[in-house]
Amino acid sequence: MKKQKILITGSSGMLGRALCDVLSRSYQVFGIDLENRNKLKNFLVCDITKFEQVKKAILVVLPNIIIHTAAYTDVDGCEVDKKKSEVVNKQGAINVAKICQDINATLFFISTDYIFNGKKKSSYRENDAPSPLNIYGRAKFEAEEFIRHNLSEYFIVRTSWLYGAKGKNFVDTIRATAQSNSPLKVIDDQTGSPTYVVDLSEAIKNLMDKINDCPKKYSGIYHITNSGKCSWYQFAKKITKINKLNAKIIPMKSSQLTRPAKRPKNSLLSNVKFNRLIHKPMRSWRKALGEYLKHSKQKNNFGIT
Ligand SMILES: NC(=O)c1ccc[n+]([C@@H]2O[C@H](COP(=O)([O-])OP(=O)(O)OC[C@H]3O[C@@H](n4cnc5c(N)ncnc54)[C@H](OP(=O)(O)O)[C@@H]3O)[C@@H](O)[C@H]2O)c1
Repeated sequence: MKKQKILITGSSGMLGRALCDVLSRSYQVFGIDLENRNKLKNFLVCDITKFEQVKKAILVVLPNIIIHTAAYTDVDGCEVDKKKSEVVNKQGAINVAKICQDINATLFFISTDYIFNGKKKSSYRENDAPSPLNIYGRAKFEAEEFIRHNLSEYFIVRTSWLYGAKGKNFVDTIRATAQSNSPLKVIDDQTGSPTYVVDLSEAIKNLMDKINDCPKKYSGIYHITNSGKCSWYQFAKKITKINKLNAKIIPMKSSQLTRPAKRPKNSLLSNVKFNRLIHKPMRSWRKALGEYLKHSKQKNNFGIT
């Protein structure tokens, strides 16, 4: 049987790279991004904000599935440069979605916990009403709305607190800062589920394998994160503990930090819908973190001073 073709937008990004690695074992994978930092063999330079460029790239590949990860992910930057957020995070996604529709490809759109306002007391389900607190979350939500109303085969995958190799992320920042032994102040009043991009990529692969025969039947929104919860402070403590670093970590409140973008206090997403369909529950964030730290220490000698 001919291998299915998958096109990943943002293939040089943190999640994009992990998806390329995981999916290329079973599928024919193509990437598009502003630069080929991942040194992918099947790669096209493409700016998702330019409709004709996106159309040309997608028509060259003619994929069965498109995973749209490309985004402007600097949440505070989005608050300052609203236009860029609108153009990349909303219009860029709409460009990709429109061409998906034209060629009858299935779209996987990666979305975020930041579409919620964080006021709910328990974890968010797929049908809870979004109410973003910041510009980034608003653009992602508006892109979701376009996809929901215009596509018949789509998977909106909402996730949270991503980390992984070759990406700017909390784990590497805490590890690097803690190595200098200077005290660290970390927010303790926001709760979420840290998610390892490799685990998310494998979960997306499992979802793809499941829906293969009848994507329309399973089309919709899915929440996928590693299981369990913590605050950024608890996350930082665990990172330094695993790395045997002695840096002092001090809890602080969000209100003590002046940042352009507001963040939800509760970022927890419920995986119940995903678990019911896939029957392979996501492992705990602690286990996933342990594996990432072990793996990246071996690779980079990171954590050893
Ligand atoms: N990081 C998180 O904690 C988190 C949480 C929830 C959801 N998400 C979502 O998950 C997805 C992946 O996140 P990530 O952390 O892996 O992001 P990332 O590392 O920033 O990767 C995004 C990629 O998209 C590229 N890109 C930006 N503008 C583009 C454009 N106009 N045309 C083509 N490519 C463009 C970026 O290139 P440059 O680097 O050159 O700009 C980068 O390679 C995003 O959709 C994000 O919204 C992330």
